[in-house]
Amino acid sequence: KTVNIVGVPLDLGASRRGTDMGPSALRIAGLGDALRRLGYRVERESDIPAPAMETRSTEDRKARFKPQILKVCQDLASKVKLILEANEFPLIIGGDHSIAMGTIAGVSSHFRDRGESLGLIWFDAHGDMNIPGVSPSGNIHGMPLAHILGKGDEDLKNIMGFSPKVKPENVALIGIRDIDAGERRIIRESGIHAYTMREIDERGMASIAAEALDVVNRDTGGFHVSFDVDGCDPTVIPGSGTLVPGGVSFREAHLLLEYVADDGRMSSLEVVELNPFLDDRNISAERTLELILSAMGKSIL
Ligand code: ARG
Ligand code: MN
Ligand code: MN
Ligand code: MN
Repeated sequence: KTVNIVGVPLDLGASRRGTDMGPSALRIAGLGDALRRLGYRVERESDIPAPAMETRSTEDRKARFKPQILKVCQDLASKVKLILEANEFPLIIGGDHSIAMGTIAGVSSHFRDRGESLGLIWFDAHGDMNIPGVSPSGNIHGMPLAHILGKGDEDLKNIMGFSPKVKPENVALIGIRDIDAGERRIIRESGIHAYTMREIDERGMASIAAEALDVVNRDTGGFHVSFDVDGCDPTVIPGSGTLVPGGVSFREAHLLLEYVADDGRMSSLEVVELNPFLDDRNISAERTLELILSAMGKSIL
């Protein structure tokens, strides 16, 4: 199988600068060669161009840098769809989490052409279920999941010309522990399956992973994994901009992704919110690379 790696050096969706260097951090950690050692063919990598914050301004305090982020997401969506049509596996490296609106538009559009729906595993400390006007920050990286479900801004939710991209009953949100007040109501009313840190502690990741796979595979053609590195505990991944203590351990994250690999129905993977400027050397990218390899089928024995 061929893996097609797409870098999206975007940080306009976050308040802290630096996720635009996430693709570099993973490449320098050795992503491409590590996948080759796993037995994949790796295409020549590409990037979706994204403007630097200093070259733009925004007056929209409810959805900061919306036109720029929309354009990046549209370009990314087209690219991801082409990769899937070529029967290759898209591995998207961000970039802040707003790029998920582009990635998932592309994946969902591909499945839609075949009359199939898409499942979604969203790994995150946050809900990313804000919408403009409800979000306390106006940062679009706190809003992508809401737009994928067809809520919020008309342009952002209609990337690739249709909405919603996934049905709430096929979404598993895993690792949450920091939810804004208005966002909480949106999550509760949405109908998605949300697994908090409390539930992970009580039931264990093995049980949560098995149930999540059930959710994303029910009457779907496959599922996408959107992996926000801040879902992991900050002691595991210090290099991210919106750290929340009490997160998923390295072992639990590996286990989830090993279950994903064993399941065999993952269509596409994206890894977001790596910020090498906040990191300790490049350890967050190195650990993230290990997690990616688990998702791609690396096993201990
Ligand atoms: N909930 C906060 C907000 O809306 C933080 C979102 C963090 N999102 C992320 N992708 N790291 O601004
Ligand atoms: Mn997050
Ligand atoms: Mn996120
Ligand atoms: Mn973290």
